[in-house]
Amino acid sequence: KWYTLVDQDTCIACGACADAAPDVFDYDEEGLSFVILDHNQGVAEIPEELIEDVEDAYDGCPTDSIKLSNEPFNFIQKNST
Ligand code: F3S
Repeated sequence: KWYTLVDQDTCIACGACADAAPDVFDYDEEGLSFVILDHNQGVAEIPEELIEDVEDAYDGCPTDSIKLSNEPFNFIQKNST
């Protein structure tokens, strides 16, 4: 099982992640990425068929802002949109 979220403090809105995984990441009005699945809370299990896309996004992010874990991210990050 995999969970993901974006650290919006380090995201530079480069725009690579939603190219790699358009069903998982989208951008807020500032261009910062967030996880569509659960509004960037890191608690929604990534659907099997999307995991490869997320790995591509994870590898491609220039600032390592995409977090991946086998456990849900329980501490609430900043609210995204
Ligand atoms: Fe931000 Fe990295 Fe995506 S910098 S826009 S999280 S590829």
